[in-house]
Amino acid sequence: MAALDDIVRTFPDSAWDAAPSERAPTTGVEHLLEAGHVLCFPQLAFVLSERERRFLTPAVSDGKAKNISLRDDGSLRGASGNAQDQNELRDMIARFSRQAQTLVDRLFPHYRGRLRAAKASYRPMQVEGRQSSWRKDDTRLHVDAFPSNPVHGVRLLRVFTNINPAGRPRQWRVGEPFPEFLQRFAPRLTPPVPGSAAVLRALRITKSQRTAYDHYMLQLHDKMKADLAYQRTAPQRDVDFAPGTTWVVFSDQVLHAVMGGQYMMEQTFYLEPRHQLYPHTAPLKLLEDLLGKALLPAA
Ligand code: SIN
Ligand code: FE
Repeated sequence: MAALDDIVRTFPDSAWDAAPSERAPTTGVEHLLEAGHVLCFPQLAFVLSERERRFLTPAVSDGKAKNISLRDDGSLRGASGNAQDQNELRDMIARFSRQAQTLVDRLFPHYRGRLRAAKASYRPMQVEGRQSSWRKDDTRLHVDAFPSNPVHGVRLLRVFTNINPAGRPRQWRVGEPFPEFLQRFAPRLTPPVPGSAAVLRALRITKSQRTAYDHYMLQLHDKMKADLAYQRTAPQRDVDFAPGTTWVVFSDQVLHAVMGGQYMMEQTFYLEPRHQLYPHTAPLKLLEDLLGKALLPAA
């Protein structure tokens, strides 16, 4: 399990694919990811073209969404600008998406053909000074879990690249290992109200059924963010990711918060726990063991 003082593992790769010029491209690091490490590549940059550099402004956002996202159906959300601008933005995010896919295929041979690419995003807004409700406040430590997007036990693997042009790091905090966090919060967990999943679904608050797994992960997310004493005093570390750095994490497992920075790319992948190298490390299994019951409906 990743201890806080060596939670970040750094690798020298400077190409997304295994370029012949690279002496020892990193591969076979599933065990580190699954143990809760942040895999960090300080020399793995996402390079914008001269024309794309005009997108390095918050004005590319439509002002409603905080991210510009490219969905897996190819649609672009959250962008301002004319059709030409939007096409070029889409191309830029799609290129990042392909490079992220190339990277994960190389890093994680065990997951090959099993990772499902979900949305990719470009995040042009400055983190500092952003207003949000406590529940959406990602400057508070959390594991990723979303009220409207049940995942049914599926893992969230994320690839991030800082593309800040002015030398500003993406400033994160990372917290204690998930199993320790889970032990600490276990006494506060309460079961779903019977019938509530059907109501949430009928009201379209959730896009699919909120399973017991999703219920407990959302509780963990919410209770951690709401606990200001935990936020202040929990075991944690600051980690800065400089521009030109790419990092990869299971964001449903690594406790994280973003404290500062601007301009970042992100790609999300889904992975079924059964396709992990060590499925027993999945939050699903840890929660099921802790609670002594199945947390997904029978298939
Ligand atoms: C998050 O996933 O909590 C946000 C990460 C970031 O914006 O750097
Ligand atoms: Fe997050």
